[in-house]
Amino acid sequence: MSVAFGGFTALSDVTLTITPGTVHGLIGPNGAGKTTMVNVLTGFQAPTSGRVTLSGQDVGTLPAHALRRQGVARTFQAGRLFGGLDVLDNLAVTGVGLGHSRHASEVEALRLLEWMGVSHLAEQPAAGLPYTDERRVGIARALMFAPQFLLLDEPAAGMSEEEAADLAGLIRRVATDLGTGVLLIEHNVALVLSVTSHVYVLDAGRLIEEGDRGVITASQRVRDAYFGADQEAA
Ligand SMILES: Nc1ncnc2c1ncn2[C@@H]1O[C@H](COP(=O)(O)OP(=O)(O)O)[C@@H](O)[C@H]1O
Ligand SMILES: [Mg+2]
Repeated sequence: MSVAFGGFTALSDVTLTITPGTVHGLIGPNGAGKTTMVNVLTGFQAPTSGRVTLSGQDVGTLPAHALRRQGVARTFQAGRLFGGLDVLDNLAVTGVGLGHSRHASEVEALRLLEWMGVSHLAEQPAAGLPYTDERRVGIARALMFAPQFLLLDEPAAGMSEEEAADLAGLIRRVATDLGTGVLLIEHNVALVLSVTSHVYVLDAGRLIEEGDRGVITASQRVRDAYFGADQEAA
């Protein structure tokens, strides 16, 4: 796919595949096009050219809510919870939006919160949540009714090392226990390399590398993308 905003090319001929039951990483410096990629894959942004396929079907023109119903879920860099509702209702509203009954949605929400180990949050107002809990609830909401794919946009931002390690464990379980295909966008490259089997690297809208941990850590192109400016300055 390619995406242009006016004369500016945010993504240039990028090809990326996410398979069920696997965690994939997407890394790259600020402005590389990572969020734009997630926006395209989840129907929030139409590609300027190229295709998005889901199980072989072209879904590049489907809006976000239709893709979510087909099992493509995401989180946002900023929480975007309904501040006036408690956590349980935040999740239940998503279930109802997906076409499930209020009751079935509440049952699913409680089950999910328990699976994530955060049942104690159910009756907390979303507005007052500590940052890390807000992130967890965002993920729980995306996991309502077990999506086939989950795209996480910098879920560990602002977390401590320990909280990020907990999150890494959760992300692994999403793939192994739920069979969900995950695309993990993270600033924290160590976290990405610890949970993913395949990593894509974007720089200035281009895919400059992809491969397993060994390929990424050995790549001069990746090093240049992250540290190029420093090396020139040095
Ligand atoms: N709606 C938009 N209109 C114009 N430029 C945009 C828009 N969205 C993103 N961009 C630009 O596209 C580039 C990639 O942005 P983004 O995908 O958010 O990068 P990342 O998530 O990797 O930091 C940036 O230069 C950004 O300013
Ligand atoms: Mg981003």
